[in-house]
Amino acid sequence: MLLPDIRKTCVISLSNQSKALVTGAAGFIGSNLVDALLANGKTVIGLDNMFNGHVENLDSALKSPKFELVKGDIRDMDMLLDIMKGVDVVYHEAAFTSVSQSVKTPQLCNDINVTGTLNVLNAARIRDVRRVVFASSSAVYGDSPVLPKTEEMPLKPISPYGVSKVAAEAYCIAYHQTYGLKTVALRYFNVFGPRQKDSPYSGVISIFISKILQGNSPTIYGDGTQSRDFIYVKDVVKANVLAAASEKAVGKAINVASGKPTTMNDLTRLMLKICKKEHLKILYEDKRPGDILHSYGDTMLARSALDFSPDYDVARGLEDLIKLTGKKSI
Ligand code: UD1
Repeated sequence: MLLPDIRKTCVISLSNQSKALVTGAAGFIGSNLVDALLANGKTVIGLDNMFNGHVENLDSALKSPKFELVKGDIRDMDMLLDIMKGVDVVYHEAAFTSVSQSVKTPQLCNDINVTGTLNVLNAARIRDVRRVVFASSSAVYGDSPVLPKTEEMPLKPISPYGVSKVAAEAYCIAYHQTYGLKTVALRYFNVFGPRQKDSPYSGVISIFISKILQGNSPTIYGDGTQSRDFIYVKDVVKANVLAAASEKAVGKAINVASGKPTTMNDLTRLMLKICKKEHLKILYEDKRPGDILHSYGDTMLARSALDFSPDYDVARGLEDLIKLTGKKSI
């Protein structure tokens, strides 16, 4: 599909309406957010450079007269200024998303995640955007063994990716304090759900789903006692929508987590059960180098500042995901 050249189209059809801008709109989280905003009757501009995004993630959105997709890059400040005219809320999901790749190309990660976010904030300030919601990550906590991860903990990122999210969060908070731009940073824990691609750089659930549904055994790295805090993408979308409205959240960085650890052993058994593939053997390989043992987030601030609590636990999220995967509607 051909995407419009931004400088020519300049969001003509959607002008004069209150609009949301979703950066990274064709990606895993961005596209789920776009669908939810459109379902809530919002007018939405989706921005994506299509490096990691897939236009088919927006199949349904593109049928809506209230949606416009722009191909562009958050490193292009002129373009951002152009598309933010009349925008009410920016949901900034576009990012260099791979932790391992950030180790290989730290400069590129910085350009996209730090300079790109700074561009988004600058354009939002100039265009008088009412709210910017920023997608941060639990990677800001690094490998600190303290549990649960609370927002006041010292941040100790260990990867260029983690550093980039710390820096971008700090810019969000500073832009609120210095310029009065209303920003909220959301620290996503281990997000899973429809449209998360199965690749070596993807989360464990997307990798295991593909394997299990093809009748292959999943491989756990380590003894499977390590745990993570899995949060379903529909809850991440809900947290974003709440963050766009809550005054108490402004100027803060807030965990978006379930608050409950799930071990890899429990996760894998649950997935085999839901997929009705309990006969498949679970394979074990050496622990992944640099893997942290446990991670789960404190959810108090999300409750008090956003009135957020997840609707999906891991089991319900997996059931929904597997149902959608079966229907091929994702
Ligand atoms: C994510 C990042 C990781 C980063 C960490 C810290 C990705 C894909 N992962 O890892 O690079 O260091 O955040 O912020 O970006 N697992 C298996 N089998 C598999 C795949 C994974 O057993 O085939 C295990 C892993 O060893 C890990 C758990 O599943 O213990 C979760 O892995 P993953 O989904 O990659 O998330 P994080 O470990 O949190």
